[in-house]
Parts: sequence; structure tokens; C-alpha cells
Amino acid sequence: MKKTIMLVLALALLLPGMMLFAGGEQESAVEQDNSVEVLHWWTSGGEAAALGVLKEDLNGQGIEWIDSPIAGGGGTEAMTVLRSRATSGNPPAAVQMLGFDIIDWAELGVLADLNEIAEAEGWDAVVPEAIKRFSKYNGNWIAAPVNVHSTNWVWANKKIMDELGIEQPTTWDEYIAAMDAAKAAGYIGLAHGGQAWQDATIFDGVVVSVGGPEFYKAAMVDTDDAALRSDKMTEVFARMETLRGYMDDNFSGRDWNLATAMVIEGQALFQMMGDWAKGEFFNAGKVPGEDFVAFRTPGSQGTVTFNSDQFVFFAVEESKQKAQGLLAQAVLSPSFQIAFNTIKGSVPSRTDVSDAEFTIIGKAAMAELAEANANGTLFGSMAHGHSVPAAIKNAMYDVITAHLNGQLSTADAADALADAVAAAAQ
Ligand code: GAL
Repeated sequence: MKKTIMLVLALALLLPGMMLFAGGEQESAVEQDNSVEVLHWWTSGGEAAALGVLKEDLNGQGIEWIDSPIAGGGGTEAMTVLRSRATSGNPPAAVQMLGFDIIDWAELGVLADLNEIAEAEGWDAVVPEAIKRFSKYNGNWIAAPVNVHSTNWVWANKKIMDELGIEQPTTWDEYIAAMDAAKAAGYIGLAHGGQAWQDATIFDGVVVSVGGPEFYKAAMVDTDDAALRSDKMTEVFARMETLRGYMDDNFSGRDWNLATAMVIEGQALFQMMGDWAKGEFFNAGKVPGEDFVAFRTPGSQGTVTFNSDQFVFFAVEESKQKAQGLLAQAVLSPSFQIAFNTIKGSVPSRTDVSDAEFTIIGKAAMAELAEANANGTLFGSMAHGHSVPAAIKNAMYDVITAHLNGQLSTADAADALADAVAAAAQ
């Protein structure tokens, strides 16, 4: 990856007009292109509906949106396409990106500088530190955060719960008992899509559930060898094995939104997924509290493992910079933050937005995020690139997925995880 990246850098430096981003307000002598190509992975029903808000906003400002959707939840495929496009000297003007990936690209010096817009719009005062850590590089703004999601959630079909007399579980034992009841009644206990990033999304919550916030930090953020090899980590893998027993036989490769649809349609009781799942329930016309409920992975209450979608802007020729600027400005405007995030299932990336228009789950998510931030229990999601750089994340993915697929025993998994992380860190 690093070699490819150096090549990218060399090519990008040859790009004409590689100037610092001028900002939306500035008049330019160069004739402006008024279109912006956006590479993203928001292709599910709920995601596309949310993205529609942004497209309309920009169209209303006379900017043509050139859509480059790359299907694949979590953005794995989108990042592969981005690397090949950038390597051939043809990066899109704007790209959806997560966490440490943003920093990797910033290190190469190929991103536009958003300082002028950030200053004019007062971003510094309203974007929380945990997000700014990935929106800024060397003190300069290089990304515009769209939202904040979190990964330690369970989505549940309320009708199945009512039919089987299942109360919202608060402990791991209650959680397992609920899935036992669903299985006995002929339902699938846990809807899941067997893709590495989805396996890892479940893992985020289970690590917190087993070991609490300190353990999550030690293992998933600090990658402490002793924590990775600990009995607690073996217990995490034991729980993953237990969860595997509630998934159906066809889970391999399934897209996350199809797993959500299994809960929506009443085939499955639960799905463990980030709160973009909420966007799928909304898109299907489902009502929180009536058709579905959401709760934190049992045992992880009080801790939030977050990820924030951000747009980064590649340094492109001057004629394309005005459209980039308007996109950057649009994503952080308070009205857009409400319109978009109420559909997407995420919460605003700025702290001064009212929760009045959010549903009961959205209000709770906003309050929990603020609380976790204040209590020191807000951590970047490993699964979504916010706790460790991509190389380490991918090493973790491999072990988690091999274990879930039965290729690695629970007894060996913690050591395998520690070994893989150590190898990737070299
Ligand atoms: C996450 C992203 C979310 C959602 C999800 C599934 O990485 O942050 O916005 O799109 O992938 O595609």
C-alpha cells in the first residue's frame, strides 16, 4: 500500500493547479466547472435516501452531482477503487472516508486544505475533538465530517419480541435467552452478513460487553499485547462462537442491509449493526418503539464505539474548487445536519444542533454520545477504521472472520489476534 501511495503522490503532484483550497466564497478568475464527482458507498435504500438530501441541496445551488457509488458496506471496495483511481492520476473531487484512512491520505499531501471554509463557518467551535482528530491534520482542516454513527447496537423486531414475551435484554444472559426463544419458535436468532467488516462490527460491541471500556481501549485502541492475549479476549471469541450458533446457514457474503431486511420482515429477531441500520427501518416505513427497537449490545451500555463519515477533497484544478467548497460547506450546515442525519440513522457531527426532530432512538444516541464523551467512554470503532490504522484493522479482520467461519478455534484465537496485530505493526 505504501509504495502505491508514493506513486499516487508523485502523480498527484503533477496535477495542474495544485493550489490550496480557495473556499466557496472566493471569486476566481478561472471559469468554474460547477460539477462535483463524489465517490461513496451509500448504496442501500436508507443510505441512498439520505444521500438524496445532499444531492438536492447541491443541485439547488447550481452544482451538478456526479455520482460514483461503489457498493460494499464499510467502504472496503470504495477504498480499493479510490487507490486505483488516484494511482492513475484521476482522483474524484470528493470522497467519503473514515478515520485513519483520512490521515493516510493527508500524510501524502494530496488533499485540499479546508481551513478557509472551516474558519468562515466556525467549525472549530462546534465539531467535537474526537471527530476533529480525523478532520484535521497538522492543525489544518482536511475533511468535512457529515455525521457520527456508532457500532455497539442491536436492532430488534418488536413484533417477535411481543409474540414471544421477550423483554429488552440488558445482560448477555438475557440476550442469549431471547435468541434461544426465537430459535425455538422457528425464527432466526441473529441476522448477519458474513463479510469481514460486519463480523468486526459485532466484535466491537462484544469486546466492550466482556471487558468494559478499559479493556476495549487496551485491546482495540492501544493494541496492548497482554490485553489481546488475555483470558478476556478468549471470552470475547467464545461469545462470538455462541453468536455464530444463532445465525442462519446462508449468512456468508450477505450484504448488511439484507440482514437488516430479515429483521424488518420478521424472519429474524436481532441484528448487531451500526445505526445506519436505522436508516433501513425508516426507509421501509417502520416506526421505532412499534415495529422495532434498538438497544446497546448488552453489557456495553455507557460506552460508545463511534465512526464518522467524512468527505475529503482531493487537490484538483482550480476550475473544480468552487463546487468542492460548496459541498464542504453544505455538509456542515445545521439544516443539512438535521435533514440528513434523521434519515441516515446517524447523529450530527456538530454539537450545537437540536435533537427535536430526531426519533426516540436518535435522541438517545445523541445523549449517549455526549455522555460517553464527557465520561471518557467514547472510543473509535475498530471495525470502521477509527481505532487503529488500516493495516492493523485488516489484520484483526482476518482473525475475527477466520474464527467466526470455524477456521480457527476459540482457544487459539486470542493469540492469533495478538500475533497478527504484532506482525501488521512492524
Ligand atoms: C459505515 C459507514 C456508514 C454506513 C455503513 C454501511 O462504514 O460509516 O455510513 O454506510 O458503513 O455501508
